[in-house]
Amino acid sequence: MRKLSAYEINQLNKHNIDPYFLDLNSIDNKPVEYITGFAEFYGRDFIVNENTLIPRIETERIIDLAFENLPEGKVDFIDVGTGSGAIGITFAKELERKRIEYRGILSDSLDEALNIARSNIKKLKAYSLEPVTSNLFTSVSKQKFNTIFANLPYIPTSRISTLASSVKDFEPVSALDGGEDGLDLIRKLIYSTSEYLEKDGVLILEVDDTHTHKFSEEFIGWEIEIFTDLNGKNRFWVCKINS
Ligand SMILES: C[S@@+](CC[C@H](N)C(=O)[O-])C[C@H]1O[C@@H](n2cnc3c(N)ncnc32)[C@H](O)[C@@H]1O
Repeated sequence: MRKLSAYEINQLNKHNIDPYFLDLNSIDNKPVEYITGFAEFYGRDFIVNENTLIPRIETERIIDLAFENLPEGKVDFIDVGTGSGAIGITFAKELERKRIEYRGILSDSLDEALNIARSNIKKLKAYSLEPVTSNLFTSVSKQKFNTIFANLPYIPTSRISTLASSVKDFEPVSALDGGEDGLDLIRKLIYSTSEYLEKDGVLILEVDDTHTHKFSEEFIGWEIEIFTDLNGKNRFWVCKINS
């Protein structure tokens, strides 16, 4: 029988679900976020469901990396593979807090995921963000951004079956599986990004920790800096076009 952790009990109570009335046999390894319908990210609650990845605490650093690389003047950004919208909406709210002017697009190839991002735009009152259904950039009109985020599926296919049940049995495979070496979509994105990125802009990627220098050196014409997550794993690439 499942034993709830203190964190899980806290989350259930916070969302008015009495743990005492939960049928623990029927929820197996279901993540608490899919039971409550909410996940915390950067101090805010985001609506999530089985069509969206649960935003991870490790991903929060991507917001700090964007602020460390903030362009001068207005911020023009896109969050590719937005899922629940956690990255793009958080960035927008933090820009608003700092009174920085911005324009932002949230895109995902999955309509069902983008609908959850739409709900979060309303919930968190980030009304100026524009949701766009798009396979990478294919349905995004030609324009230049100075900040591009992408936390795309990056787990190598052979590793999916080894993931914890709470991940592989509950989170959408379309949010996890990055192909043979995990870089299928990231490669395509990098090759098409130069058309969308301003000369001095940044592309900030979340990647698998096996995607280290060996892979980043594959991308000729880019200067790629690697940053770790809070577990010390190589997790983020901050990419700039070589001048
Ligand atoms: C790892 S999840 C990340 C979700 C969210 N950005 C986060 O950090 O919590 C990857 C997301 O990319 C989306 N995705 C998968 N293939 C895509 C594609 N070809 N173009 C755009 N988005 C895609 C998935 O639907 C999923 O929402």
